[in-house]
Amino acid sequence: MQSSLPLTIDRSAGLPLHLQLAQQFRAAVLDGRLQAGHRLPSTRDLARELAVSRSVTQAAYDQLHAEGWIEGRTGAGTFVTDVVPLQPAVRRRAPQPADAEAELLTLRPGIPYIAPTPDQGWRRAWREVSTQSPPRGYDDAAGLPALRAALADHVGRVRGIACGPENVLVTNGTVHGLRLLLAATRRPGDRIAIEDPGYLNAVVAARDHQLEILDVGVDQDGLLVGELTADLTAVYVTPSHQYPLGGRLPVARRNELVRWARRTGSLLIEDDYDSEFRYDVAPLPALAQLDLERVVHLGTLSKTLSPALRLGWLVASEAMVDQLATFRADAGDWPGWPMQAALLAMLRDGYLDQAVRRGRRLYADRRTHTCSVLAPYGRIVGQDAGLHITLLLPDDVDDLEVARAARAAGVVVAPLSEYRRSVVGPPGLVIGYATPSTPDLHKALTVLTEVLGTSRP
Ligand SMILES: Cc1ncc(COP(=O)(O)O)c(C=O)c1O
Repeated sequence: MQSSLPLTIDRSAGLPLHLQLAQQFRAAVLDGRLQAGHRLPSTRDLARELAVSRSVTQAAYDQLHAEGWIEGRTGAGTFVTDVVPLQPAVRRRAPQPADAEAELLTLRPGIPYIAPTPDQGWRRAWREVSTQSPPRGYDDAAGLPALRAALADHVGRVRGIACGPENVLVTNGTVHGLRLLLAATRRPGDRIAIEDPGYLNAVVAARDHQLEILDVGVDQDGLLVGELTADLTAVYVTPSHQYPLGGRLPVARRNELVRWARRTGSLLIEDDYDSEFRYDVAPLPALAQLDLERVVHLGTLSKTLSPALRLGWLVASEAMVDQLATFRADAGDWPGWPMQAALLAMLRDGYLDQAVRRGRRLYADRRTHTCSVLAPYGRIVGQDAGLHITLLLPDDVDDLEVARAARAAGVVVAPLSEYRRSVVGPPGLVIGYATPSTPDLHKALTVLTEVLGTSRP
């Protein structure tokens, strides 16, 4: 039905009638069909014209009035104003095409296998959280005291780090912990060393904090300590499984690195992202085990349970933990109580240990299979630990091109050159074997070998 205003009602549209009117009214003002100063019919007359109840036209006028599109003049009626209100700055997201990645098999590194159905231990933890009332006020910015204590026990047991709850800060994962540390303790212009090739999120975090970055090389054992310079205020390092080449920093080099940090006063940031997973090799000590004054240790649930939990921990000196907790108390930026309470239940029940044991068994077989399938195509490195291997390719192969061809054939894989910055090295593929189901992994590897078989120029 048409009114004396350019407004119509569509009862099949699914949008409440007063919102339909307000929306059309705004559009009419913006495109000039309704001019400033135009006198509007009363809500009663408009309701009659449109055959709707008066509450509908009243609600539409109330909304337009609140937004500044119309004004009432005492005794004279309601008019279109001459000020065009600001449009809300949020733009509607254009409809997205169905997620193209979802159709593909992924061998991208970084995400563990997540079973489609949650198990009993997981359900028990969440059930327990749901039976508790939340805390009355803001909880401790460093994390729930009981969780900090449980995490201190955990890292003592599995990583040999002798520490107490006062050394633990609960985070939203590694990157969150790293960014918090940089924001609270570094100044623009400070120099930080980051492995090259290395973890790009760490590079972005350093850039965002206006740090100068030294690209430091790695070999088959990990970070090249001899390349560190005395002017560095921090070093970001992945000693348990260099990301992405997979070196495991030997004890002698760990000692050398800690000695260097003591001499220069630099801070070592130990990203321990996937240390839970190693195969047929002895554990190596965490750097934090050697010196908690010089090392900040970052742990995460992203590889053991799920990155979607956004939960991890930072282990450091008590003074550092206090400084970080004070810093983030102002921002209100710490993990929510339900997440922390659930992790506490999982640690207490041994659920995390169980998930790690299960993961190790699953990934050990997959790693062996992946290595045996890919061995003819290049040199495999980093297979002793973690959830990925790196396949180094002959120098004349373009790894970006291989990744593109694999994608066209239905498999997502990460080219090693994506992780490189200035240090030159061979091309390769970083291949995560954890994410897909076992049959999908086998399928993806078959496709990948076909692509690799035709990839020599
Ligand atoms: C080197 C490295 N560190 C840390 C993480 C995990 O980060 P977060 O705990 O923020 O999920 C990843 C995940 O891919 C990683 O590759």
